[in-house]
Amino acid sequence: MSAKNSGRRLSALSTVAAGVGGVVMGVAGWRAFRRATADRELLPVGRALITGASSGIGEAFSRRLAATGFDLTLVARREDRLQALADELIAAHGIRADVLAADLARDEDIARVGRAIEGMSDLTLLVNNAGFGTRGSFAEVSLDRHLDMIRVHDVASVALAWSAVPKMVARGGGGIINVSSIAAFFPSGGGATYTATKAYLNNFSEALATELQGTGVKVQALCPGFTYSEFHETPEYEGFDRGQIPGPLWMSADEVVAESLVALLGEQVIVIPGRQYRSIAIALNSPFRGTILKAGRALRKRWHSPGFAASEGRLRETYEDGRN
Ligand SMILES: NC(=O)c1ccc[n+]([C@@H]2O[C@H](COP(=O)([O-])OP(=O)(O)OC[C@H]3O[C@@H](n4cnc5c(N)ncnc54)[C@H](OP(=O)(O)O)[C@@H]3O)[C@@H](O)[C@H]2O)c1
Repeated sequence: MSAKNSGRRLSALSTVAAGVGGVVMGVAGWRAFRRATADRELLPVGRALITGASSGIGEAFSRRLAATGFDLTLVARREDRLQALADELIAAHGIRADVLAADLARDEDIARVGRAIEGMSDLTLLVNNAGFGTRGSFAEVSLDRHLDMIRVHDVASVALAWSAVPKMVARGGGGIINVSSIAAFFPSGGGATYTATKAYLNNFSEALATELQGTGVKVQALCPGFTYSEFHETPEYEGFDRGQIPGPLWMSADEVVAESLVALLGEQVIVIPGRQYRSIAIALNSPFRGTILKAGRALRKRWHSPGFAASEGRLRETYEDGRN
């Protein structure tokens, strides 16, 4: 090859490299811009009702949305926490915020919040976020706790969406974010009801989004992985050691919320915050699915249910006794 030809090739290669570099930087820049301006572009600013606003991800949604100018209705059981947050956000951002104390494991409280939504003329965003986890095997956790979880995660989310949708459709826009979990993709021991209630939210959100296409109302199932919040600080999680979970798997509630709000600008329904979790979700659709699910189950057993191994032993003994 002549020196002239190789020079041309080099210059062509460097042009292509510069072009690719430019595109990569352009995309990164655009994404950074969208992240920075997401709150402002979001939905027509109106009112957001956030369940589980007294801590963690719900509190982070409240703070971000208040900073954008949304008025807020904050829902959870700990009224003092909600009132303190409302007072702080009113003072900081000049918004209107009110508090609705409700236990979403109780049908009458779900109905009361639903009626409040039906009476709102300015609700643009509903965030169904309230939730909790349990520790222990299926039989170790009380039946009441399983049924409460179904009510808080699923019954309340369906009921509140049902109350919100007609007016959003009539106004030609709005958003519903159902806070699910990456656990929705990992049906596993130690969390049978948890993973099932979250899988329900994913399926429900996808179906509702399809039905609402063209109405201007968006639906999202937000699927966070391990997130710093009070989720692992309830009495059930006593002794739970966050350090057992590799650092890169933890995200802050604010990061989770930022990714959710950016995604609400697009059409995606199932939203997985964090590149690490998106990679896991992609790998779940690969031939490695079986291996990943197996690893996930083993880890979930170890992290979430110290009593699990013991209870498995007890169950095996019981079954064997029954057979003899
Ligand atoms: N943290 C994680 O690693 C993680 C991962 C994936 C998904 N998630 C999901 O994220 C959502 C928020 O959890 P978080 O991590 O922010 O935990 P968190 O800090 O414990 O917040 C949970 C919120 O739900 C409310 N809540 C719980 N039970 C309720 C009930 N019966 N009635 C009304 N409100 C209730 C709590 O308020 P009160 O106690 O004041 O009622 C609290 O505001 C949950 O749906 C959870 O499943 C969390």
